[in-house]
Amino acid sequence: MKEIATLSRQEAVAEIEALSIELQRHDTLYHRDDAPVISDADYDALKRRLLALEEQFPDLRRLDSPSLRVGAPAATGFGKVRHKVPMLSLDNAFDAEETAEFVARARRFLSLPEDTILDILAEPKIDGLSFSARYEDGVFVRAATRGDGQEGEDITANLATVADLPARLKTSTPPRILEVRGEVYMRRDDFAALNSRHSARGGKVFANPRNAAAGSLRQLDAKITASRPLRLFCYAWGELDGFTPETHKGWLDQLQAWGLPVNPEHHLCRTLEDVEHFAADIYARRADLPYDIDGLVLKVNDVALQKRLGFVARAPRWAIARKFPSEQAQTRLRSIEIQVGRTGVLTPVAHLEPVTVGGVVVSRATLHNEDEIRRLDVRVGDLVTLQRAGDVIPQILGVITGQRPADSTPFVFPHTCPECGATATREDGAVAWRCTGGLTCPTQATERLKHFVSRNAFDIEGLGGKHIEAFFADALIRTPQDIFTLEARDRASLSKLKNRNGWGPASAEKLFDSINARRTITLDRFLFALGIPQVGQATARLLARHYGSLGTLLDTLDSIPGPDEEARLSEAWLTLIGIETIGPAVAQELLAFAREPHNRDVLRALQAEITILPVEEPDTTHSAIAGKTIVFTGTLTRMGRAEAKAKALALGAKVAGSVSAKTDLVVAGPGAGSKLKQAEALGVTIMDEDSFFDLVSNMT
Ligand code: IVH
Repeated sequence: MKEIATLSRQEAVAEIEALSIELQRHDTLYHRDDAPVISDADYDALKRRLLALEEQFPDLRRLDSPSLRVGAPAATGFGKVRHKVPMLSLDNAFDAEETAEFVARARRFLSLPEDTILDILAEPKIDGLSFSARYEDGVFVRAATRGDGQEGEDITANLATVADLPARLKTSTPPRILEVRGEVYMRRDDFAALNSRHSARGGKVFANPRNAAAGSLRQLDAKITASRPLRLFCYAWGELDGFTPETHKGWLDQLQAWGLPVNPEHHLCRTLEDVEHFAADIYARRADLPYDIDGLVLKVNDVALQKRLGFVARAPRWAIARKFPSEQAQTRLRSIEIQVGRTGVLTPVAHLEPVTVGGVVVSRATLHNEDEIRRLDVRVGDLVTLQRAGDVIPQILGVITGQRPADSTPFVFPHTCPECGATATREDGAVAWRCTGGLTCPTQATERLKHFVSRNAFDIEGLGGKHIEAFFADALIRTPQDIFTLEARDRASLSKLKNRNGWGPASAEKLFDSINARRTITLDRFLFALGIPQVGQATARLLARHYGSLGTLLDTLDSIPGPDEEARLSEAWLTLIGIETIGPAVAQELLAFAREPHNRDVLRALQAEITILPVEEPDTTHSAIAGKTIVFTGTLTRMGRAEAKAKALALGAKVAGSVSAKTDLVVAGPGAGSKLKQAEALGVTIMDEDSFFDLVSNMT
């Protein structure tokens, strides 16, 4: 590429024209079709080049320049469907050992002796798109995508066109309600034929069968879906009324009898050896199966045991994905880019010569941090081995040093932020370099805003990453509260959103509407949206349930005294770190967040704009332990510690790790020591496991 300063006016005209067309195309692919063909970094490079050209030749800036535009019109129009029973994901096991651990964990949780048989049903894990289809009195009435697990998109019309799905169940005595869940997929041969048809017409070519299935299903025009070779398998359930499965195997047989397709490649395993045998068999036949799989799903067959095992965060304790070893490839490392995240962490990203791994073209991979680069001794120009496992981000495994260019030099990790120039620091014991610019670093600020509006946080539709960047650049949105004052400021201002390039009266109003629709939010989502380091969705939910309101949480944090030694002994601190998985590291981050004056300004400003609701509590109408704080100590034999805890939480109790004046009940098994003594000293109610078991058994 030529230096801009050396370009003639003629050359500049030609290049601006070409870049504008190219960027326009990528905008549409990204925003409207959800199918970008270049990386964000490559896109940014094109855009930077255009901006630089326009700066040099201001009079050549086109009125419709992509540099002034924020996004192409989005494909909207799918209604939302709330899942009565959430659609969960699965934890992974990557080998026999991790699989054995999963089974051992389930046994421990259920307090099952080692020698009893725990039947496991194994089925292929298809790499497609999960759906939930609802039948009422045997008639198909609605279907939805998984979405965020709580709420998906209404794809009734689209799924109805998939020939595998019966419009009516094959029975004269259907259940009143049947929500069946499964996977929509495309066979490899159908995928290849579809792609060659499309490319012959100069149309869109899909990267892999999964993308093709997803793109075909999420069509606003169901006629297009109907023209695509989609298939499906059913494997799970949501709401049921009028039918209760006893085993997973029995469930699959029943689905089959109703005319719902079930993957015939399923197998009931009685031992771990059976599981390994079946895994090896399917792995060996993987290429012969007509569809892509990325492993097996292993499920506890007995549904009563599944119910007892329940869920942790987003995944069931009774099922796991056993992933197959991933595919590998070799390619050259072109450059290492340092990206800045929302917490200021500098992450090195490898830019690679594009290579196909596991059916997907890979041109980027994360290098994690400075130590990883040093461990691999990876240098620009190196030939590297990389792997891609299922949906996991591609990973660099090693360097082929024999093929290293003679003049290569070790990579020097920068000690300043590449985005804002502020000093970067690496604290003792930490792996990451962090930009110290805080919110004065534009990249950190925009990344936090992007997180704030993202799907599991405020979920503001139509306010995507590119919009945030553009609004940030023009100082329209610099802080979270600015989002909620955008409309009022727009009404008062002369330069209106509707007059911006790429916007109009309708799209501006639509954005204001979708912002206003989010002025009410539950506390868990709100806490997650704040982007406090270490506070993910599960932790946010725990905090929200435990403290109930933002005020209570902040009061608690404010009551923790200043210096560390004192803080660590305070009641508030001990309660906080006693909440399930919230340890000292999370507590420290919460405290740091609460003590930063700027954050308090943001919280105050937000509270003036929005309403924060408590999280929906579990149904505890029949619970005598709702709201009570319970401590478990000693050995629990009847249900095991984890099951007892889960049961208590489900009944609305709080579970703490240490006994204090706030403890309502201590459940003590044999071997209980200091906690029991403390409880006696404080006069807290104490009961043994049997009494607790009887107490909670009557509540459900
Ligand atoms: S069971 C709580 N069974 O894998 C039960 N999932 O990583 C969760 N998947 O979202 C799902 N084949 O889209 C189950 N035989 C199978 C599956 C399967 C593919 C997908 C599904 C799910 C994801 C979880």
